[in-house]
Amino acid sequence: MAPSKFLIFFLSCFLLSFFVIARKELALETTDEQEHHYHTLQLSSLLPSSTCNPSTKGDKRKGSLEVVHKHGPCSKFSEDVIKPLTAEEIFTNDESRVHSIRARLTFNKGKKDTQGSKVTLPAKSGEIIGSGNYFVTVGLGTPKKDLSLTFDTGSDLTWTQCQPCAGSCYSQQEPIFAPSASTTYKNISCTSTECSGLTSATGNTPGCSSSTCVYGIQYGDRSFTVGFFATDKLTLTSNDVIDNFYFGCGQNNQGLFSGAAGLIGLGRDKLSIVSQAAKKYGKVFSYCLPSTASSTGYLTFGSSGVASGVMYTPLSTSLGDSLYDLDLKYIYVGGTKLPISPSVFSTSGMIIDSGTVITRLPPTAYSALSKEFRAQMTKYPLTNASSILDTCYDFSNYTTITIPKISMVWSGNTKLDLVPQGIFYVNSVSQVCLAFAGNRDDSDIGILGNVQQKTIQVVYDVDAGKVGFASGGCA
Ligand SMILES: *[C@@H]1O[C@H](CO)[C@@H](O)[C@H](O)[C@H]1NC(C)=O
Ligand SMILES: *[C@@H]1O[C@H](CO)[C@@H](O)[C@H](O)[C@H]1NC(C)=O
Ligand SMILES: *[C@@H]1O[C@H](CO)[C@@H](O)[C@H](O)[C@H]1NC(C)=O
Repeated sequence: MAPSKFLIFFLSCFLLSFFVIARKELALETTDEQEHHYHTLQLSSLLPSSTCNPSTKGDKRKGSLEVVHKHGPCSKFSEDVIKPLTAEEIFTNDESRVHSIRARLTFNKGKKDTQGSKVTLPAKSGEIIGSGNYFVTVGLGTPKKDLSLTFDTGSDLTWTQCQPCAGSCYSQQEPIFAPSASTTYKNISCTSTECSGLTSATGNTPGCSSSTCVYGIQYGDRSFTVGFFATDKLTLTSNDVIDNFYFGCGQNNQGLFSGAAGLIGLGRDKLSIVSQAAKKYGKVFSYCLPSTASSTGYLTFGSSGVASGVMYTPLSTSLGDSLYDLDLKYIYVGGTKLPISPSVFSTSGMIIDSGTVITRLPPTAYSALSKEFRAQMTKYPLTNASSILDTCYDFSNYTTITIPKISMVWSGNTKLDLVPQGIFYVNSVSQVCLAFAGNRDDSDIGILGNVQQKTIQVVYDVDAGKVGFASGGCA
């Protein structure tokens, strides 16, 4: 072989291999790109299984309570005490909760504008329990009695139904708490500063009955609880006990609390459990909501178990000092940044709420989101809307689906990557809906709901004024 021919042969080999390598890299890049911006998943992973598989992560940490979905195989609530709600009922309750949050904020805004003073809640604050999906079980009194309480970052006072139910009690799973059977129970006097503190914690001026302080809370759907303001020993776990915990001992309780013995208030007010537990845990708590009703999550007080990779975004107090408000900047769908002017989010504001199910966005933002999502999902057949959810797919012919990832970017460049279970609300395989809804007006408050928070460890560091997200908090 002549040297020139050899050279050409050699060069061709070289070029060819280079070309092959280049092509390989190109292919790799596309696969990476795919994986980076899309989820490929088994359809069955969106559905709860018929048996409970408790999440093992997090259950051994200090001050940690197991979080369970009310309806599902991990729930101990029997279906004759609480009947599962239909999707329609869940969305109706969810809308009521959103309306009441809005009414509360409108009231606060008005008050701030006219008086420039500290916000107090209106007499009819219109808070609502909503569908109260998640609960934890705590011990109250001595000897302690277990009580399952709905947990709620949107309100402050913790309360439970109490015997003798002087007015009325609705049916609950566990026996109703009997103060007379607890050696550590104490009534609070009408003249105490804690009694006056009820005004900001409940939105109502406290009453007084035979020198015992009386609290009252109405909820937007005409649910309410009224009773004695009291203290007793609260047992979170065997090692985590709060003595003299302030709570409402409800004598007259009515409404949609569906089987739970009451509510645990995780708001920012000084009577919330977060403030009352501050001495022991700092004003820090975290929770993780399970991916489906057949798994469990946790609620942890204090900073134990906070993931090292948690990314924080600052809390603001522009909407009052009870709700947790955050600053949303951008939304990405399958790697595409939605063309939404930042002023859309800054005008509406946004809170994170454990009790609202579906995330609410300003209509301008929601339409950009659903438009882009639909554009990237054209290979799947759309189906009928489900109440407030208008982007629904029929996946009955699929076992595996590929869907665009959705990320929400918050102030401080903190990215929240939603898991597939945080993108969809599943009615059935033939109606799987994008779990976001638009508000009526761009000035209405946005709400990050609990579907989108699934499997994320959400950390509330109230003292440091920040909320953080870490993925993979629970299964
Ligand atoms: C708490 O106050 C109510 C109303 O005054 C009274 O009926 C009840 O016996 C009191 N309980 C205790 C333990 O003092
Ligand atoms: C969609 O809605 C139409 C009209 O209400 C109804 O006839 C049809 O059965 C619905 N389809 C599905 C898949 O639910
Ligand atoms: C599922 O596949 C069958 C058979 O190909 C087809 O007739 C039907 O329209 C498909 N249904 C959906 C919802 O895609």
